[in-house]
Amino acid sequence: MKISLSNIKKIYNEKQVLDIDLLEIEKGKITGIIGPNGSGKSTLLNIIAGLDEKYLGTIIYDQEVINREIYNKMTLVSQKPYLFRRKVYYNIEYPLRVRNINKADIKKKVNEIIDRLEINELKEKKAHLLSGGESQKVSLARALVFEPKLLLLDEPTSNIDPESIKVLEREILRFNKETKATVIIVTHNLEQSDRICDNIIYLENGRVSL
Ligand SMILES: Nc1ncnc2c1ncn2[C@@H]1O[C@H](COP(=O)(O)OP(=O)(O)OP(=O)(O)O)[C@@H](O)[C@H]1O
Ligand SMILES: [Mg+2]
Repeated sequence: MKISLSNIKKIYNEKQVLDIDLLEIEKGKITGIIGPNGSGKSTLLNIIAGLDEKYLGTIIYDQEVINREIYNKMTLVSQKPYLFRRKVYYNIEYPLRVRNINKADIKKKVNEIIDRLEINELKEKKAHLLSGGESQKVSLARALVFEPKLLLLDEPTSNIDPESIKVLEREILRFNKETKATVIIVTHNLEQSDRICDNIIYLENGRVSL
């Protein structure tokens, strides 16, 4: 999915936190967003995800403005993941259940993603009792499992140990290569953006700086 943003303005309490004239996110690529705390990265991701409709400007997804079909093809892994107070397995299968996929396929896909992210030992745990890093892994699994066309990741490895970061980066790359999905990743880890991003956008005070 290609995304074209034009004249995006977002204001919080009379303070303008986003001011973007033109920004194009390339289809099928991994785009990194980098910038200081408070520069508007999460705000931008929420807007692209269709979760915040209070902004000015236009966003075009491929040729269309947001609609239910587009909304169903994208997902945001937020900085502070929200998981249901149910088992990890239930959380990961949820996006497939709401899409009416048959039970056998759901089981296969969920177990595959659990294997790939190496989180087998979390499967039967209650999601609300997980550590911060464990929650991030589970919420990435829940996002990858339904193969979105647009995957938005807000600091997905901020609480993750170095060994596990390798695993998550490997799986984000694999997902991008195999499905040709568009990925946008906010990160403060410049080595990470060098490792996995095709393009990088710098945000400063809500503006794109090159
Ligand atoms: N709900 C809100 N109400 C008022 N102001 C907000 C709200 N959410 C964010 N802001 C403000 O908007 C600006 C951008 O916030 P945002 O969360 O997008 O930054 P960020 O680049 O993601 O920062 P970080 O690197 O710390 O995650 C900040 O100045 C923040 O204080
Ligand atoms: Mg943020």
